[in-house]
Amino acid sequence: MTARPGVDARSAPGARAAPGPDGGGAGLDPALFRGAMTRFPSGVAIVTTHDRHGRPHGFTASSLCSLSLDPPLLLVCLATSARCYPVFARSPRFAVSVLREGHEHSELARRFAGKSPDKFSGGGFVPTAHGGTVVAGALAVVECAVRRRVDAGDHVILLGEAEHVTLPERGGRPAVYVDRGFGSLCGADCARSGTPRGPGP
Ligand SMILES: Cc1cc2nc3c(=O)[nH]c(=O)nc-3n(C[C@H](O)[C@H](O)[C@H](O)COP(=O)(O)O)c2cc1C
Repeated sequence: MTARPGVDARSAPGARAAPGPDGGGAGLDPALFRGAMTRFPSGVAIVTTHDRHGRPHGFTASSLCSLSLDPPLLLVCLATSARCYPVFARSPRFAVSVLREGHEHSELARRFAGKSPDKFSGGGFVPTAHGGTVVAGALAVVECAVRRRVDAGDHVILLGEAEHVTLPERGGRPAVYVDRGFGSLCGADCARSGTPRGPGP
């Protein structure tokens, strides 16, 4: 039987797409790859920067990843097709606002995942002491200096060194994005509030 990339991989657990001409999965059905990634839950952040006129720009990101402690590095990936890409390609700094669970921040995440020309006019942002523009009430804020930009397929990886971190005393739970929807972590609090956790003894 001949394996067809992207088709047999779906129907046969453990099957792999045939390598493309570059040795990778170039023949893979993109929807299949996307489908696999939607099953991987992630936190949600809004990444912001300023253009040379001082105007803020930003996008919703789930590709945020802690990279190194010494020096303190993180990475976030941005599609080169994004309208804000040319600004991030030049700006020496960016800020990451980690979003909370709940309607307010998931609405913000949707707004910043959209194509409105003025995403900031709906409010929800505050200036920082270091010149950044970040989400009001963010669970955490990390302001970074760009250390490297690495081309990766149709994205660029922005490597940022954390220069300032703001951790509001009021804790809370992060927004979670999985299966193309926003949710939240549900841990011990759910048990305390009586949320069913499955069959008990
Ligand atoms: C939950 C979520 C996470 C996302 N994560 C990323 C990401 O990490 N990188 C990215 O380039 N786009 C990501 N996107 C899509 C961008 O937010 C979206 O394309 C945005 O419109 C880009 O802004 P712009 O094109 O208006 O500048 C994500 C969208 C959602 C809903």
